[in-house]
Amino acid sequence: MPTSLSVLPIRRLTLGDLISCADLAEDRGWAREEHRWGLLLTAGTGYGIDDPEGKGLAAVCVITSYGSSGGGQGLAAIGMMLVAGRHARQGLGRRLMTHVLREAGGTPLMLHATEYGRPLYRQLGFTDIGGTETVLGRFRSPETAPSVTTRPAAAGDLPTIVRLDTEVLGVDRTHLIARLPAFADRLGVAEDSAGLIGYAAVWPTPEAHVIGPLVAGDEETAKALICSLVASLGPDLDRPVRTMIDIRHEELLAWVKEHGLEPAARTTTMVHGIPDLPGDWTRRFAPLNLATG
Ligand SMILES: CC(C)(COP(=O)(O)OP(=O)(O)OC[C@H]1O[C@@H](n2cnc3c(N)ncnc32)[C@H](O)[C@@H]1OP(=O)(O)O)[C@@H](O)C(=O)NCCC(=O)NCCS
Repeated sequence: MPTSLSVLPIRRLTLGDLISCADLAEDRGWAREEHRWGLLLTAGTGYGIDDPEGKGLAAVCVITSYGSSGGGQGLAAIGMMLVAGRHARQGLGRRLMTHVLREAGGTPLMLHATEYGRPLYRQLGFTDIGGTETVLGRFRSPETAPSVTTRPAAAGDLPTIVRLDTEVLGVDRTHLIARLPAFADRLGVAEDSAGLIGYAAVWPTPEAHVIGPLVAGDEETAKALICSLVASLGPDLDRPVRTMIDIRHEELLAWVKEHGLEPAARTTTMVHGIPDLPGDWTRRFAPLNLATG
């Protein structure tokens, strides 16, 4: 790495860095998604390296930590790892990631890697455990809606949503879930006679409405939540919908493709310090976004 880059300090980011983060994302061809950066920089911790010539940020990444549940070790999700194109392949990504690994101590880590990030993460000890497929397009609701009861979430549902999320994710994400009512356009729940069996949110980006998290007892419940959230968007119904589905949920992936969504990207799910993610993957259909795990 050139000496000038190897000595640049790594600092913690604040909400004041939001626009610079969006600029850096745009520099790498990603959407600006300032709304998402706002969530990440408050629910998580951003790390960045300032450009030596004062051109905003040269590198950035965000780590979101979750508490342990049921005697587990907790977990932290790493995301939005970006190095400005003009500084690419000069060691900045490795330096920032090594710093974040050190800051995380022994906490188990997870991330969703693009093909560009994966070689670096492998070198740093991450292992592949699965993948997600991002699908995007105009969703066409089926003529017969799945026969699962759904409704908009009420304020009183939040503790039950947190309990379900903790059970399915295997970690305590209260600080993230508590932000969902303000972050999302809609938050919906599915229930049966025994209580809550799923929940999902839809939130806005400049490109599309994003569905996630999507937690559901089974495929039918996941489908019902998608249908009800899209229907609830009303006048925005014509906007594209995006979601990032765990590739093990083949039936749901096939179904959303039958209803208008198209493959847009793939990521590899990787972990560090644990053999696999905690929780119950069969009920974990889509993350809130790829950066939060
Ligand atoms: C992925 C990214 C953060 C890497 O940052 P970087 O500063 O360019 O990476 P480094 O110079 O530290 O390189 C570290 C290693 O990563 C791998 N790597 C980096 N860029 C790569 C590329 N374009 N293709 C293949 N491997 C690559 C190499 O193994 C490299 O080591 P080497 O140069 O000794 O062979 C950067 O390319 C980027 O911002 N990409 C676009 C956004 C993205 O996909 N982010 C990852 C999200 S998971």
